[in-house]
Order: sequence, then C-alpha cells, then structure tokens
Amino acid sequence: MAVDLEKILRPVDNPVPPFPPKYMMLAGGEEMVIRQVTRDEIPDILQHVEPLIHVERDYYDVVAARLYSELLAYYRYRVQDEYVLVAQINGELVAVVNGRLLSKDVGMSYHTVALRRGLRVGAHAFATKMEYHIDIIGQKEVLVVAESPIGFRRWMIEYELEKRFHIAHELGGVPSWALTKELFNRARETLVVGRRPVPQHLLEKAQAAILPPTDPPKAPVDLLAATRSLYDSTGTALMSQRWKQEGKA
Ligand SMILES: CC(C)(COP(=O)(O)OP(=O)(O)OC[C@H]1O[C@@H](n2cnc3c(N)ncnc32)[C@H](O)[C@@H]1OP(=O)(O)O)[C@@H](O)C(=O)NCCC(=O)NCCS
Repeated sequence: MAVDLEKILRPVDNPVPPFPPKYMMLAGGEEMVIRQVTRDEIPDILQHVEPLIHVERDYYDVVAARLYSELLAYYRYRVQDEYVLVAQINGELVAVVNGRLLSKDVGMSYHTVALRRGLRVGAHAFATKMEYHIDIIGQKEVLVVAESPIGFRRWMIEYELEKRFHIAHELGGVPSWALTKELFNRARETLVVGRRPVPQHLLEKAQAAILPPTDPPKAPVDLLAATRSLYDSTGTALMSQRWKQEGKA
C-alpha cells in the first residue's frame, strides 16, 4: 500500500540533457566551477542555506527559506523537473541556482543565491542557468522574478527582461518577467562567460566535496541592528533607549 501511494506522490521527471559543467576566471583571479549536483549532494547544500534564513539583509531570508524548501522537495521527490547547479571555488560553495521546466518550451527560474559577495558569482551563476534553459535544453524563454532590489537590477535591468505580467510566477504568485532566446543572444557577449571542458583537476576538486562557504552573509550580531538601520544610521537612538530601560543611562 505504502509503495503504491509513493508511486502517485512521486512525480516523474521529463528527460532533459544534463548540464555540462563549465568554469570561469573571476575578477580576483580565482577559478570558479559551475556544475549540476545530484540528489545525494542536496543535504551538503541545505546546511549552508539554512543559516541564511535568518539574514534579513538583501532578502536572503525570503530567498533562503524558499530555496531550502525547493531543495528539500527535490531531494525527497516532491517537485517535478527541477535541477540544481552549484558554483564552487576550490570546492567551496559560493552560489546556488535552481529552476524547473514549466513545459517543453518554457522554463521557470527559481532562485539564485550568492554565498560570497562582491565577485558577481550570483550574476555568473544566473547567466549559466539561463544558458542551461536556452542553449542546452533548447527552451524558448524562461520566466523570472526578483525578490530583492539587487536581483531586480541584475536580471530585469541588465538583461532588459520582457514583461509576462499575465503569468503568475511559482515564486509567490507575483507577475512574471521573461528572458527570451533573443534577449539571451543579445547578452551572450557581455553577460555570459565561461569555458568547457573544465580541466580535470578543477572538476575533481569540485566533485570531491561541497566545502562550506568561507565568508557567507550573516545576520547582525545585534538583533536590533536591522530595525535600527531603518530609522537611524548611527543606531544611537535605539541603543540609548535600551540603556535607559536597563538602567545603564
Ligand atoms: C542577487 C544576488 C544573487 C547577486 O549576486 P552577485 O551578482 O554575486 O552580486 P553581490 O550580491 O555580491 O553584489 C551585488 C552588489 O552589492 C555590492 N556588494 C559587494 N559586496 C557586498 C557585500 N559584502 N554586501 C553587500 N553588497 C555588496 C556589489 O558591489 C554589487 O554592486 P553592483 O551591482 O554595483 O556590482 C545576491 O545579491 C544574492 O544572493 N542576494 C540574496 C538573494 C537574492 O536576492 N537572490 C535573487 C533573488 S531574485
């Protein structure tokens, strides 16, 4: 009985070509590998996504909570046609991107999360997942949304995405934007980088283990800091209020 029910609950993925790994040199001179992960590797990623659920800055909290759920659903066979790519520098996890197929011709971009800031690793990882949809799977367009202003700048503005506001995106049901094959071709020269094949030593290092991010975004030590920064860039107003309450001032 249990086995039969599992057959109903577990969706059957449509066959798609796997993502061929690629690598690129970052502005700082480090080499980054982007590759598709298997289900077995998902727990190694989840443990680094979970802490981001508590980082309000730049909407890491919303994105990490949703990404955690998408990765878990993929791991436990509760989502159809999902794939997950990771970006690694010397094995270290620096970005995660995922998405799924809505239909043969249309892709649904899920999330992009950078675990190391300031190197455009998120931008490169996003471009790579668009390459997977358009060039490798051969889709006509990908539906995209942004949860953060940085995401909006990176995707909607940099690629000049087209509105598909009549289509509710799977992420929160908000109006979708689309990256079409034409837009991707236009961005190819400037935004899409990387080479294949990945040198054996780089690929082996990446496949050997997903190592923890060395400098991931963190929640502020003072839990009031996020609130404080909204109203007072120096933070003194709330701090002095608290000192007063504690009888220290
Ligand atoms: C959106 C995102 C993937 C972009 O990643 P990225 O391309 O590697 O870019 P970064 O986030 O490192 O940098 C974004 C900007 O902040 C600046 N920045 C650099 N270091 C930073 C730091 N430590 N903290 C905050 N901002 C930083 C960068 O200079 C950059 O400015 P620019 O746009 O003028 O180049 C990443 O910001 C992220 O994961 N955000 C949280 C989740 C999210 O919003 N995902 C997208 C959902 S649609």
